Amino acid sequence: MKLWGGRFTGEENELVAKYNSSISFDSRFWREDIKGSMAHALMLGNQGIISHDEADQIHKGLVDIYNDIESGKLSIDMEAEDIHSFVESVLTERIGDAGKKLHTGRSRNDQVALDMRMYARSSAKEVSKLLKKLLTTILSIMKDNKETYMPGFTHLQKAQPVTLAHHLGAYFEMFSRDRSRLKDTVNRLNYSPLGSGALAGTTYPLDREMTAKVLDFAGPTENSMDGVSDRDYLIELLSDFSMIMMHLSRFSEEIIIWNTNEYRFIEIDDAYSTGSSIMPQKKNPDIAELVRGKTGRVYGALMTLLTALKGLPLAYNKDLQEDKEAFFDALDTVSDSITLFDGMLATLKFNKDIMASSAKNGFTNATDAADYLVTHGVPFRDAHGIIGRLVLYCIDQKKALDDLTIDEFKQFSPAFDKDIYDAISLKTCVEKRNTIGAPGTAAIERMIQHCEEVLNS
Ligand code: ARG
Repeated sequence: MKLWGGRFTGEENELVAKYNSSISFDSRFWREDIKGSMAHALMLGNQGIISHDEADQIHKGLVDIYNDIESGKLSIDMEAEDIHSFVESVLTERIGDAGKKLHTGRSRNDQVALDMRMYARSSAKEVSKLLKKLLTTILSIMKDNKETYMPGFTHLQKAQPVTLAHHLGAYFEMFSRDRSRLKDTVNRLNYSPLGSGALAGTTYPLDREMTAKVLDFAGPTENSMDGVSDRDYLIELLSDFSMIMMHLSRFSEEIIIWNTNEYRFIEIDDAYSTGSSIMPQKKNPDIAELVRGKTGRVYGALMTLLTALKGLPLAYNKDLQEDKEAFFDALDTVSDSITLFDGMLATLKFNKDIMASSAKNGFTNATDAADYLVTHGVPFRDAHGIIGRLVLYCIDQKKALDDLTIDEFKQFSPAFDKDIYDAISLKTCVEKRNTIGAPGTAAIERMIQHCEEVLNS
């Protein structure tokens, strides 16, 4: 039965009913819907809008429905128009006339706005928890790899040596910014639209402060028209999710590169890779590729909402129903992606020798060789030229800088001496870099300390 049948005489077209219906996706927040109704009923009773006895009956009826759905005793009827109609109709079936009073002073417009906010709020907290777990994995790999040397890249060309701890520390920063963005979004969305009515509030003496408090909001929203039509918080969350996916996708791209036959920096655990149906030798980085691929899907959800909202006149319009599928799909995608990525990362094996020799053989110590000349009195611009010629010579001789004899060094500049070897060893190149945020031992200890603090805050 429709909640709005009174005004209508004609039969509803079946296709219209199907097109209009949202139960297949809004049943997802049945818990929020019932909790919101409990708070509303309690407030109606407190304000004397319905009797205490009626409020109690409604409350008890809702508790039973909640428990019955949770236990599987009551299944949600997919023929209902939406979750709001379903709960109300079961309540009325079960408790009779008192059930018909639940919707006093309320509209589905403020009801759905409330449900969605509550659902979005807990989703943001769940995603933040998943990120915290990922950050914990990253930090533990950092702690184990303070001296795992590898090339740092610019333009995907070997640039200067870093450590795995330093490299992963960059992702720690990205994902902790993502967490702080989620927190900001929750703080901004945490106001209750319940009591906004259809758009213009109501003549009943509703206590909006009370329902906001019962439902754990910081307070009621300030404008009823905004209350029913605001979906900014979903757009913000989708932007937060998009940023998380973008970070995961960058990281995935690196995993894919590191996993190539050419690099072989890592081995992906069997559980997180798949084979080829035709090429027996293949072990593919599918999870990383899927995370990269699914990033577009989350961006798509963000665009869907931005576009759905851009032409909407105040206040509620049915277009707003389109917020749900896009949001839920993005939420599932981001949650699964973080979880799987975390599992893949935690089981990665790093080929430390290959990483170190890649750094050694990529002239990543060329800057340090130039700096060496500078400390021996050669102006930096000249030193840059000398080392450039030395690199060309090494390429020709198929040698690393460290492999040259002292005589070979001296052919390029008399300023070279035996201490050049120590000055350009991977260890020195990395460990002398101790400015804040750099890969040197002291700087990395400090960074790890900072990461611990972030995780514990
Ligand atoms: N399913 C609707 C939605 O998601 C609920 C609100 C219905 N309100 C209305 N005026 N038809 O937006």
